[in-house]
Amino acid sequence: MIAAAGSGQRLGAGGPKAFVELAGRPMLEWSLDAFRAASTIAEIVVAAPAGQEGTVAEQGVLSVAGGEHRSESVANALALCGEDLIVVHDAARPLVTPVLIDAMVEQLAAEGEAAGVVAATPVTDTIKQVGDRAWVERTLDRSGLWAVQTPQVFRAEVLGEALADPDSLADASDDAMLVERRGGRVVIHQTSPENIKVTTPFDLRIAELLLRERA
Ligand code: CTP
Ligand code: MG
Repeated sequence: MIAAAGSGQRLGAGGPKAFVELAGRPMLEWSLDAFRAASTIAEIVVAAPAGQEGTVAEQGVLSVAGGEHRSESVANALALCGEDLIVVHDAARPLVTPVLIDAMVEQLAAEGEAAGVVAATPVTDTIKQVGDRAWVERTLDRSGLWAVQTPQVFRAEVLGEALADPDSLADASDDAMLVERRGGRVVIHQTSPENIKVTTPFDLRIAELLLRERA
């Protein structure tokens, strides 16, 4: 499932981020390519910007209108997904690869106790908690901190239960958080920091360089 329904405010391109041109193609198509090439993926469902479901369906995938918040878009798409393992991915991460997708699906399939597997990379910056007046309150111990990305792979029933309470969806920055809150075991799959999220115009430049380098 690909979450592609965001408006891309911080990118400021004047339209939905999923359709912004990146290395010669709309951003969403890079993720679609990776999912089509992954051998563990049976079907692709995209949460599209409202009114763009038809445009997205032309790519030969199932398409549904997204919601106001990211997790609402994921919940809408989940309604069209199968009942095995579900890979949730953000269209804003166009550097995803078929190798990563397949490795994560295989990891969850092999880890009977896990409810989900999330892509993540160790934090390299020093992270500080900052309060009012820009005063530093404390420095976190970096050794246990990971920056979490998508893909995130879940057992379908676990994801369905995590997304079932509409009131909890608005403040969730990822789906694993909703699974964790319910006591589900989430496991890290270490990835390269190259799997960046395109949020700002700076990120778009980096993604463009990396994709052109691959080609
Ligand atoms: N997303 C979504 N539905 C929403 C909001 C976000 O499907 N209502 C998706 C985006 O399309 C993106 C991913 O969630 O692929 C991560 O969100 P983000 O990077 O925040 O994208 P936008 O919300 O589009 O950007 P911004 O927050 O700057 O507006
Ligand atoms: Mg957003």
